[in-house]
Amino acid sequence: MRNGFEIRVATLGDAEKIYAMVHLNRDQLVPRSMGNIVETIDRFFVAESNGEMVGCATYQIHPEFGDARAATVEVQSLAVKSAFRRRGIGKALVEAIISRVSAFGPGEIVALTFAPKFFGALGFEEIPKTEVMHKLYTGCINCTKHTDPFTCPEIAMKREMHSLSNRKDTL
Ligand SMILES: CC(C)(COP(=O)(O)OP(=O)(O)OC[C@H]1O[C@@H](n2cnc3c(N)ncnc32)[C@H](O)[C@@H]1OP(=O)(O)O)[C@@H](O)C(=O)NCCC(=O)NCCS
Repeated sequence: MRNGFEIRVATLGDAEKIYAMVHLNRDQLVPRSMGNIVETIDRFFVAESNGEMVGCATYQIHPEFGDARAATVEVQSLAVKSAFRRRGIGKALVEAIISRVSAFGPGEIVALTFAPKFFGALGFEEIPKTEVMHKLYTGCINCTKHTDPFTCPEIAMKREMHSLSNRKDTL
Protein backbone atom coordinates (compact mmCIF):
# COMPACT_ATOMS: atom_id res chain seq x y z
CA MET A 1 0.00 0.00 0.00
CA ARG A 2 1.40 3.42 -0.96
CA ASN A 3 0.06 6.80 0.19
CA GLY A 4 -2.86 5.09 1.96
CA PHE A 5 -4.24 3.30 -1.10
CA GLU A 6 -3.55 0.30 -3.27
CA ILE A 7 -4.36 -0.55 -6.87
CA ARG A 8 -5.50 -4.07 -7.67
CA VAL A 9 -7.27 -5.95 -10.45
CA ALA A 10 -11.03 -5.92 -10.00
CA THR A 11 -13.06 -8.96 -8.99
CA LEU A 12 -16.66 -9.80 -9.83
CA GLY A 13 -17.48 -8.70 -6.28
CA ASP A 14 -16.47 -5.14 -7.24
CA ALA A 15 -18.89 -4.89 -10.17
CA GLU A 16 -21.74 -3.24 -8.28
CA LYS A 17 -19.46 -0.57 -6.78
CA ILE A 18 -17.88 0.09 -10.18
CA TYR A 19 -21.39 0.51 -11.62
CA ALA A 20 -22.23 3.01 -8.85
CA MET A 21 -18.95 4.91 -9.37
CA VAL A 22 -19.49 5.23 -13.14
CA HIS A 23 -23.09 6.33 -12.57
CA LEU A 24 -22.01 8.90 -9.95
CA ASN A 25 -19.65 10.43 -12.54
CA ARG A 26 -22.21 10.25 -15.35
CA ASP A 27 -21.52 13.83 -16.46
CA GLN A 28 -17.94 12.84 -17.35
CA LEU A 29 -18.22 9.12 -18.19
CA VAL A 30 -20.01 7.06 -20.81
CA PRO A 31 -22.67 4.97 -19.03
CA ARG A 32 -22.05 1.24 -18.55
CA SER A 33 -24.60 -1.44 -17.77
CA MET A 34 -23.98 -3.89 -14.94
CA GLY A 35 -23.86 -6.67 -17.55
CA ASN A 36 -21.12 -4.88 -19.51
CA ILE A 37 -19.05 -4.36 -16.34
CA VAL A 38 -19.34 -8.04 -15.43
CA GLU A 39 -18.44 -9.13 -18.99
CA THR A 40 -15.33 -6.93 -19.00
CA ILE A 41 -14.36 -7.21 -15.31
CA ASP A 42 -11.00 -8.74 -16.27
CA ARG A 43 -9.96 -5.35 -17.70
CA PHE A 44 -10.90 -3.25 -14.67
CA PHE A 45 -8.56 -1.99 -11.96
CA VAL A 46 -9.79 -0.58 -8.66
CA ALA A 47 -8.19 1.60 -6.01
CA GLU A 48 -8.82 0.71 -2.41
CA SER A 49 -8.22 2.67 0.79
CA ASN A 50 -8.78 0.94 4.12
CA GLY A 51 -11.04 -1.61 2.43
CA GLU A 52 -13.12 1.05 0.66
CA MET A 53 -13.21 1.16 -3.15
CA VAL A 54 -12.25 4.75 -3.99
CA GLY A 55 -11.50 4.57 -7.71
CA CYS A 56 -11.77 2.50 -10.86
CA ALA A 57 -10.57 2.43 -14.46
CA THR A 58 -10.61 0.13 -17.44
CA TYR A 59 -9.44 0.02 -21.04
CA GLN A 60 -10.46 -1.14 -24.49
CA ILE A 61 -8.26 -2.18 -27.40
CA HIS A 62 -9.23 -0.48 -30.68
CA PRO A 63 -7.82 -2.39 -33.68
CA GLU A 64 -9.58 0.14 -35.93
CA PHE A 65 -7.18 2.93 -34.82
CA GLY A 66 -3.72 2.91 -36.37
CA ASP A 67 -1.72 -0.17 -37.32
CA ALA A 68 -3.57 -3.32 -36.15
CA ARG A 69 -0.19 -4.83 -35.14
CA ALA A 70 0.22 -2.00 -32.63
CA ALA A 71 -3.40 -1.07 -32.02
CA THR A 72 -4.63 1.80 -29.88
CA VAL A 73 -5.79 1.38 -26.30
CA GLU A 74 -8.42 3.70 -24.81
CA VAL A 75 -8.60 4.49 -21.09
CA GLN A 76 -12.25 4.29 -20.03
CA SER A 77 -14.45 4.64 -16.93
CA LEU A 78 -11.72 6.36 -14.92
CA ALA A 79 -13.05 7.90 -11.71
CA VAL A 80 -11.84 8.64 -8.19
CA LYS A 81 -14.20 9.44 -5.30
CA SER A 82 -14.17 13.21 -4.84
CA ALA A 83 -12.91 13.06 -1.22
CA PHE A 84 -9.88 11.05 -2.41
CA ARG A 85 -8.83 13.20 -5.38
CA ARG A 86 -5.40 14.84 -5.79
CA ARG A 87 -3.64 12.04 -3.90
CA GLY A 88 -2.21 10.31 -6.96
CA ILE A 89 -4.93 7.64 -7.20
CA GLY A 90 -6.06 8.55 -10.75
CA LYS A 91 -2.44 8.58 -11.88
CA ALA A 92 -1.80 5.18 -10.27
CA LEU A 93 -4.90 3.71 -12.00
CA VAL A 94 -3.75 4.97 -15.43
CA GLU A 95 -0.22 3.70 -14.72
CA ALA A 96 -1.66 0.28 -13.85
CA ILE A 97 -3.49 0.22 -17.19
CA ILE A 98 -0.38 1.34 -19.09
CA SER A 99 1.72 -1.28 -17.35
CA ARG A 100 -0.87 -3.99 -18.19
CA VAL A 101 -1.32 -3.04 -21.84
CA SER A 102 2.40 -2.45 -22.43
CA ALA A 103 2.69 -6.24 -22.49
CA PHE A 104 0.54 -6.23 -25.67
CA GLY A 105 2.70 -3.65 -27.49
CA PRO A 106 0.10 -0.99 -28.34
CA GLY A 107 1.14 2.00 -30.47
CA GLU A 108 -0.66 4.57 -28.36
CA ILE A 109 -3.02 5.18 -25.47
CA VAL A 110 -5.96 7.56 -26.00
CA ALA A 111 -8.62 9.14 -23.82
CA LEU A 112 -11.69 11.22 -24.57
CA THR A 113 -11.89 13.39 -21.49
CA PHE A 114 -13.12 16.42 -19.60
CA ALA A 115 -9.93 16.25 -17.48
CA PRO A 116 -7.19 17.40 -19.93
CA LYS A 117 -4.97 18.77 -17.16
CA PHE A 118 -4.92 15.38 -15.46
CA PHE A 119 -4.03 13.53 -18.68
CA GLY A 120 -1.56 16.28 -19.63
CA ALA A 121 0.25 15.68 -16.33
CA LEU A 122 0.57 12.02 -17.36
CA GLY A 123 2.24 12.79 -20.70
CA PHE A 124 -0.86 12.83 -22.93
CA GLU A 125 -1.24 15.48 -25.65
CA GLU A 126 -4.37 16.84 -27.25
CA ILE A 127 -5.16 15.44 -30.72
CA PRO A 128 -7.83 16.38 -33.28
CA LYS A 129 -11.07 14.48 -32.74
CA THR A 130 -10.84 13.34 -36.36
CA GLU A 131 -8.14 10.89 -35.19
CA VAL A 132 -10.77 9.05 -33.14
CA MET A 133 -13.59 9.09 -35.69
CA HIS A 134 -14.56 5.48 -35.08
CA LYS A 135 -15.11 6.16 -31.39
CA LEU A 136 -17.06 9.28 -32.20
CA TYR A 137 -19.43 7.46 -34.50
CA THR A 138 -19.90 4.33 -32.41
CA GLY A 139 -19.65 5.64 -28.82
CA CYS A 140 -20.68 9.27 -29.15
CA ILE A 141 -23.61 8.60 -31.47
CA ASN A 142 -25.60 7.43 -28.45
CA CYS A 143 -24.78 10.49 -26.36
CA THR A 144 -27.84 12.45 -25.25
CA LYS A 145 -25.90 15.45 -23.90
CA HIS A 146 -24.53 17.02 -27.09
CA THR A 147 -25.99 17.31 -30.56
CA ASP A 148 -22.63 17.19 -32.33
CA PRO A 149 -19.52 15.24 -31.20
CA PHE A 150 -17.27 17.85 -32.79
CA THR A 151 -18.69 20.69 -30.68
CA CYS A 152 -18.87 18.55 -27.50
CA PRO A 153 -16.31 19.95 -25.01
CA GLU A 154 -14.74 16.52 -24.43
CA ILE A 155 -11.09 16.55 -25.50
CA ALA A 156 -9.26 13.77 -27.36
CA MET A 157 -5.79 13.05 -25.95
CA LYS A 158 -3.05 10.60 -26.85
CA ARG A 159 0.17 9.25 -25.41
CA GLU A 160 2.56 7.54 -27.80
CA MET A 161 3.74 4.07 -26.82
CA HIS A 162 5.93 3.29 -29.84
CA SER A 163 8.99 2.57 -27.76
CA LEU A 164 7.12 -0.41 -26.34
CA SER A 165 5.38 -1.63 -29.50
CA ASN A 166 8.27 -3.79 -30.70
CA ARG A 167 8.65 -5.52 -27.36
CA LYS A 168 9.26 -9.24 -27.69
CA ASP A 169 8.88 -10.89 -24.31
CA THR A 170 9.75 -14.54 -24.09
CA LEU A 171 7.49 -16.81 -22.12
C1 LIG B 1 -9.75 12.88 -13.42
C2 LIG B 1 -9.61 12.16 -12.06
C3 LIG B 1 -9.75 10.65 -12.30
C4 LIG B 1 -8.23 12.49 -11.48
O1 LIG B 1 -8.04 11.66 -10.31
P1 LIG B 1 -7.05 12.12 -9.13
O2 LIG B 1 -6.85 10.94 -8.26
O3 LIG B 1 -7.57 13.34 -8.47
O4 LIG B 1 -5.73 12.50 -9.94
P2 LIG B 1 -4.23 12.51 -9.37
O5 LIG B 1 -4.24 12.89 -7.93
O6 LIG B 1 -3.58 11.22 -9.71
O7 LIG B 1 -3.60 13.69 -10.24
C5 LIG B 1 -2.35 13.55 -10.91
C6 LIG B 1 -1.99 14.90 -11.48
O8 LIG B 1 -2.96 15.29 -12.48
C7 LIG B 1 -3.18 16.71 -12.39
N1 LIG B 1 -4.59 16.96 -12.00
C8 LIG B 1 -5.46 16.07 -11.47
N2 LIG B 1 -6.66 16.65 -11.27
C9 LIG B 1 -6.53 17.92 -11.69
C10 LIG B 1 -7.43 19.03 -11.73
N3 LIG B 1 -8.71 18.93 -11.30
N4 LIG B 1 -6.96 20.22 -12.20
C11 LIG B 1 -5.69 20.34 -12.61
N5 LIG B 1 -4.78 19.31 -12.61
C12 LIG B 1 -5.21 18.13 -12.15
C13 LIG B 1 -2.21 17.26 -11.34
O9 LIG B 1 -1.01 17.58 -12.01
C14 LIG B 1 -2.03 16.03 -10.46
O10 LIG B 1 -0.83 16.05 -9.76
P3 LIG B 1 -0.71 16.95 -8.39
O11 LIG B 1 -1.93 16.67 -7.56
O12 LIG B 1 0.56 16.44 -7.77
O13 LIG B 1 -0.64 18.36 -8.86
C15 LIG B 1 -10.69 12.63 -11.05
O14 LIG B 1 -10.65 14.05 -11.00
C16 LIG B 1 -12.10 12.20 -11.40
O15 LIG B 1 -12.55 11.12 -10.99
N6 LIG B 1 -12.85 13.05 -12.15
C17 LIG B 1 -14.23 12.73 -12.53
C18 LIG B 1 -14.29 11.66 -13.61
C19 LIG B 1 -13.44 12.03 -14.83
O16 LIG B 1 -13.42 13.14 -15.33
N7 LIG B 1 -12.72 11.00 -15.34
C20 LIG B 1 -11.85 11.10 -16.51
C21 LIG B 1 -12.63 10.68 -17.69
S1 LIG B 1 -11.60 10.02 -18.98
